[in-house]
Amino acid sequence: MCGIIGFVSSENTKAAVLIEGLKKLEYRGYDSCGIALVHNQEMALYKTKGKVKVLEDKLDKSLEGTSGLAHTRWATHGEPNDVNAHPHQIERVTLVHNGIIENSHELRKFYEMQGVTFKTETDTEVACAVLNDCMNKTNNKIEAIQKACTILKGSYAFGIFFDDELDKIYAIRKDSPLLLGEGKNIVFLASDCSAFLETTNRVLELNENEIAILDVTGITIIDEEGNEVKRESKEATLSLEEIQKDGYDTFLMKEIHEEPMVIKKTFHHYMKKSLNDLNETMPSLKKYKRFIFVGCGSAYHAGMIAKTLMEQKARVISSTELASEFRYSNPILDDDTAVVFISQSGETADTLAALRMCNEKGIDTFAIVNVLGSSLAKEAKVFLPTLAGKEISVATTKAYCSQVAVLSLLCLKKAMEENKLSREEKLAIENEIERLPLLMKKYINQTSVEKIADTIQHHNHVFFLGRGLDYALSLEGSLKLKEISYIHSEAYAAGELKHGTISLIEKDTPVITCITNPDLVLKSISNTKEVETRGAKVFLLIREDLYSNLMDASAVILLPKVHDVLQGIVSILPYQLLAYTVAKKLGCDIDQPRNLAKSVTVE
Ligand code: AGP
Repeated sequence: MCGIIGFVSSENTKAAVLIEGLKKLEYRGYDSCGIALVHNQEMALYKTKGKVKVLEDKLDKSLEGTSGLAHTRWATHGEPNDVNAHPHQIERVTLVHNGIIENSHELRKFYEMQGVTFKTETDTEVACAVLNDCMNKTNNKIEAIQKACTILKGSYAFGIFFDDELDKIYAIRKDSPLLLGEGKNIVFLASDCSAFLETTNRVLELNENEIAILDVTGITIIDEEGNEVKRESKEATLSLEEIQKDGYDTFLMKEIHEEPMVIKKTFHHYMKKSLNDLNETMPSLKKYKRFIFVGCGSAYHAGMIAKTLMEQKARVISSTELASEFRYSNPILDDDTAVVFISQSGETADTLAALRMCNEKGIDTFAIVNVLGSSLAKEAKVFLPTLAGKEISVATTKAYCSQVAVLSLLCLKKAMEENKLSREEKLAIENEIERLPLLMKKYINQTSVEKIADTIQHHNHVFFLGRGLDYALSLEGSLKLKEISYIHSEAYAAGELKHGTISLIEKDTPVITCITNPDLVLKSISNTKEVETRGAKVFLLIREDLYSNLMDASAVILLPKVHDVLQGIVSILPYQLLAYTVAKKLGCDIDQPRNLAKSVTVE
């Protein structure tokens, strides 16, 4: 997901305000970057492939200006290189863009026939051509922007300079986030407020299709009808310390250590002591006879845990769908179906599109989202926040745990409405919830995954096995390892491996089996034996009370025994620690893995 920051100031301002802002946006994932800086009504462009540090080293430290736009690019059209980096310019227009222009190919052909020569392969340069053309036709910036946005299809957050007014920045957004900041003698626009938080924590929302004009007088917002909108700035909910590592070597490790507090805050948000509090903090689920959990990546894996719990505890038909599949599957939905969308960012293109499809069909939509004010949070019928705080590392940990916690409560609420939960079980769960944060804190601080990590780091292929909820955990554990250590791994339902894929098992192939369900211990151990006899090096992640030293394994990591409704929250911890430890041994860029974006706002 690209990152944007821009400013207009009444005083000369060091280019560092843009560079430091881009550094705060690096977590979004990118492969090139650039800035446009205006000094004495002259614009200079600096663009480069690679990290912000590369760009910073190219700039004279004394560089300053009174306005500027900067951008980190996650490539969609055109490879990562200096030329394709933003900002892009055509004649009167210079702009930066987060999103994707879906009709850029036909527009490129149209403008090439009009004699436009494109310098890059990007969809953004095509957007430049459209806006420049509209400006030439209307000679009115607001009209030109509105007209261009009727032509451009797809998602965009634009920061725009027009060549005859370099002391103003224009901005507009559709399906991509853009925030405004009000400081003393300076105003900002940015993809998220962390980019300007060191200067000001006064933030203004920019709604879809509104146009913002930033200049030395401040910020003016124009609505779709061309009327000025009066909007007060609010204090950012984000704090500076949330966007700093606080002594940890990576945001990932910081965020793993935040999980106990996140779980405490999440549960406390929905219940004080009793599960009965859910009657006040969650809407009635009585009308629903079916639940569909929808998400991408880790959010999908959280949905798999929810499916298991909803069926096991509430005995209600449930399924889990990949958003990118669900949105095109012409799903069978009716009034007693609840579709629950799960997303950390609340901006994932496929998940958002699937939600909008359900809204159009009049189906009840729930959104379990971490970023307040995000599109999913605003557009769902019911918004149930996760309380993970800002998650900066691209690989999700604390937000995933918080998702599983909220989903567990949703399933428990439905189980209570279906009278499937005894008083004793409710009390047992409430006591477990009370002790969970401390248990997690101890576990994170005391658990060593060194032995497994030492082995895995030398391999190119790893298998994760599990049954039921342990299969969902294995999927998430496998994704964590892949995305931050770049080691290929595959999660398999333990009973399924022998139906073909077992052919890949050879001497010393690492296989990590998760066992937390007492009813499936013997089956899972049998599956482990099947791979062990074929040479695999087996590691066990097993609930402490289910382990026997008669079980063969190269290493064993014991998992805390908690109520099965909460097992998914604690059992993911060793997987997260393992992925981190292996990636660290391999010297990977743990917080910003190659090719990844914190939120995939393109399809
Ligand atoms: C998780 O570690 C990944 N970064 C990725 O799978 C992520 O979960 C997925 O892209 C969904 O993102 P969302 O939760 O913001 O919708």
